[in-house]
This record gives sequence, structure tokens and C-alpha cells, in this order.
Amino acid sequence: MLTIAIDGPAAAGKGTLSRKIAETYGFHHLDTGLTYRATAKALLDAGLPLDDETVATAAAERVELAGLDRAVLARHEIGEAASKIAVMPRVRRALVEAQRAFARRAPGTVLDGRDIGTVVCPDAAVKLYVTASAEVRARRRFDEIVTGGGTAVYESVLDDVIKRDARDMGRADSPLKPANDAHLLDTSEMSIEAAFSAARAIIDAALGR
Ligand code: DC
Repeated sequence: MLTIAIDGPAAAGKGTLSRKIAETYGFHHLDTGLTYRATAKALLDAGLPLDDETVATAAAERVELAGLDRAVLARHEIGEAASKIAVMPRVRRALVEAQRAFARRAPGTVLDGRDIGTVVCPDAAVKLYVTASAEVRARRRFDEIVTGGGTAVYESVLDDVIKRDARDMGRADSPLKPANDAHLLDTSEMSIEAAFSAARAIIDAALGR
């Protein structure tokens, strides 16, 4: 089965890009960050601790891919909690199993996350590593919050982005890093349309289209 793996740090624009790519090629899309977020939300809702691997693994095993909804899981505290439970190897094993089952769907799939090209789908037909400077990612996140009617302080958004990067890149199990055979796409100076065209050119070339 044909899989496109898209990895990169928080707020790099992977989500929008992955959805557009899946739509264009007629593939199923899974935002794997939502599986970590759903696990974290289940723990938060039940008042359970975020540092007990057995409890968190049981929550991960109950996550249903069909019920994942970004609108429900978007909250900042959920993202932070997700990044914390994502360091636990047994939590990762449970979620990776579900993600690999999804990756086998016909006619093809797009999975985005942190470890898709390195761990979840090392044999993916195309691997993209989408990134942008921490300042640009913080600025985009800040604009998103303000446009949505919320309030935020740019410096604290930037601080969060930097801390999240450190946690995602610094963990021992499946840290965020580009696969050896990933195509790097730095979107710091690109609009979403330009990033999409660049991604499409890479994918078409890799698929021989
Ligand atoms: O992409 P996101 O913000 O929804 O991801 C939330 C957290 O989940 C992220 O900080 C780390 C974790 N995650 C992961 O460890 N591996 C993935 N493939 C996807 C997300």
C-alpha cells in the first residue's frame, strides 16, 4: 500500500499540508498527533495522572481512530499533556500499532506526526520533513489564536514552541528527527500554497508521476 509520511515539529503546518495532499491524491489521512491527544484527554477528563505508564497505556489501547476530532482535541493543555505521555514506550507501542493498521488502507494513506518516516512507516513511498523556524511557527500559532478571537502573548507562545520542540526531539523513544531518506521542506518563507506546490512536486517525482 502506498503511504506518504509527513513529520515535523509542532505548528509547522503539517496538518493543513497533509489534508490537502490526501485530498489531492485521494488517500486516507491520519493526524497521529490526535491519537496522543485523545489518550491525554481521556486521562485529564478522568482526573488520572499523566505520569503513570500503565494507566496511560490502558487509555491508549481504548483510543478509536474513527472518533478523533481535532476541534475537540485542539486545546493547548491537551497538546502539552499529549507531549508528556508521548515519552512513554508502552503508550507509543499501543498507538503505533493502530497507526500501522491505518497505514495499510487502500488505495493509499497520508500519516502525519513526529516519527512516521522513522518508526511507524519506515517503508513509506515518500517521506517529507516539514519545518519552519521556531519564530515563524510561534507567529503562525499566535495569529491563529488571535484570528479565532482569543488572546495570547507572542513571547509565551514562542516559549511554548521551544519547550515542545525540546520535549519531542529530546525523548529517548522515537524522538522527532528527519528520516535519512526524508525530503526536507522548510516553509519559513513560504505561503501554504507555495508549500503545497513544493510538496506536490516532491511527491510526484518520487511516485514517478
Ligand atoms: O502534532 P500535535 O501537536 O497534535 O502532537 C501532540 C503531541 O503528540 C506532540 O507534542 C508529541 C506527540 N506526538 C508524537 O509523539 N508522535 C507523533 N507521531 C505525533 C504526536
